[in-house]
Amino acid sequence: IVNNKTIIISNRLPIKLTEENGEYKLSPSEGGLATGLGSVYKQGNNIWIGWPGIEIPEERHNEVRKKLAELNLIPVFLTNEEISLYYEGFSNEVLWPVFHYLVTYANFDQIYWDYYKIVNEKFKEAVIANLSAGDTIWIHDYQLLLLPGLIRSELSQVTIGFFQHIPFPSFEIFRLIPWREELIVGMLGADLLGFHTFDDARHFLSAASRLSSSNLSENVLLYNDRQVVVEAFPMGIDSKKFEELTKHEKVAKFTASIKASLKNIKTILSIDRLDYSKGILQRLQAFELLLQLHPEYIGKLALYMIVVPSRDTVPKYKELKDQIDQLVGNINAHFRTINWVPVHYFYRSFSIEFLSAIYSSADICLVTPMRDGMNLVSKEYVASRVHQDGVLILSEMAGASKELNDALIVNPNNIGDIMEAIVQALNMSTEEQHIRMKSMQAIVAKFDIHLWVKNFMDKLKEVKMMQESLH
Ligand code: UDP
Ligand code: G6P
Repeated sequence: IVNNKTIIISNRLPIKLTEENGEYKLSPSEGGLATGLGSVYKQGNNIWIGWPGIEIPEERHNEVRKKLAELNLIPVFLTNEEISLYYEGFSNEVLWPVFHYLVTYANFDQIYWDYYKIVNEKFKEAVIANLSAGDTIWIHDYQLLLLPGLIRSELSQVTIGFFQHIPFPSFEIFRLIPWREELIVGMLGADLLGFHTFDDARHFLSAASRLSSSNLSENVLLYNDRQVVVEAFPMGIDSKKFEELTKHEKVAKFTASIKASLKNIKTILSIDRLDYSKGILQRLQAFELLLQLHPEYIGKLALYMIVVPSRDTVPKYKELKDQIDQLVGNINAHFRTINWVPVHYFYRSFSIEFLSAIYSSADICLVTPMRDGMNLVSKEYVASRVHQDGVLILSEMAGASKELNDALIVNPNNIGDIMEAIVQALNMSTEEQHIRMKSMQAIVAKFDIHLWVKNFMDKLKEVKMMQESLH
């Protein structure tokens, strides 16, 4: 019996290293890709290849390799130069802003592109070194768009799936990138390309058929005599895990202390990585407007805002951090009373137990991205509401809004609209909360991360079989 494995590849491993007094410590990575797939990759002899999050000097590579091998993780080591030009530069100063429709934030620097190619090559070497016949390759996200093509040009028959966790923009936006053809050709190295929503898949198909010499029929591109299938696979979460977490002793303790500190105060929860795509400033503005127009809530309502540090060496992220600090400061200085603070702002990450406690304590979860591939925070809130109460306010620009129809859906550019949704949530009857929450829970529980992985893998097998039958 052959023991075929799946090789997952992403820029960031689900575990990151930090250094403390010369010792390397391991901790979970933040972000939807890592948290979503982190609990499922361990099956069988699967492995995950990616960057451990910091520069590691060469003399310590072996030590780190051994430490990570115990977890089936294989590190790709990046130098500080590569981190700066490939990761912060091309990935997060070109692709991230453009794919989130913020073209004016993009910095189309040639040297970023050069390093993007170099590092994608580096990942290719790592994949090939760990590949055995019969393995399935599953590449994730925008940092590695060239990798499918690079592997394909060495191994024409190998099975490659690709999933993009962020939006794919409309062709009018995508065409602005100077290296657009190369990016498309890189992606077309995969056999199956997955996106969170139907619109993302459609945008990719349109860009690919205009920028490459491929033939399009429905969702199949014939490229270099190989069928490439493009489809939507909306990512789910480990819904059971979030439901069960609420019963843990540690979580119960956190919940009790949160509740004790809140007494008769209603809470709105907001959790995101520091990112301009998340609409954090708009959310604060809506909350400020609410306190201005509805002073009856002063002293009775608080916003718990968790901002997880992310990419803070990229200039636009640093700028956003300053703007958030300032706006939170202004709101608190203006509205606070002797024994009440409107915004409880945390700039740090939390354990999953604390997150579970805060998800299950908050009356409202306010998720207002300007653009988001999926947004798992909204699904985690839903899965954590074991008493079926609570209200989710969700931006229509998040992929999740296509599934979570029973949230209060808002346009994040419309501050008044967000404010009104908060008022509606605060006044919603328990009965209506139950009806909405139950229907969202059914969706989150059914289309969970396990079904997502299964659907993608089944489709990939099917594509391979179709390709073989046509040859
Ligand atoms: N998260 C985390 N640590 C924290 C706060 C949040 O790991 O302190 C997780 C959160 O549980 C969620 C992920 O970060 O799974 C964020 O995923 P999402 O899809 O909402 O946004 P992304 O960060 O991927 O853009
Ligand atoms: C998003 C992206 C992931 C990324 C994560 C955290 O979820 O889709 O690819 O890993 O953000 O960002 P970071 O830059 O810290 O890896």
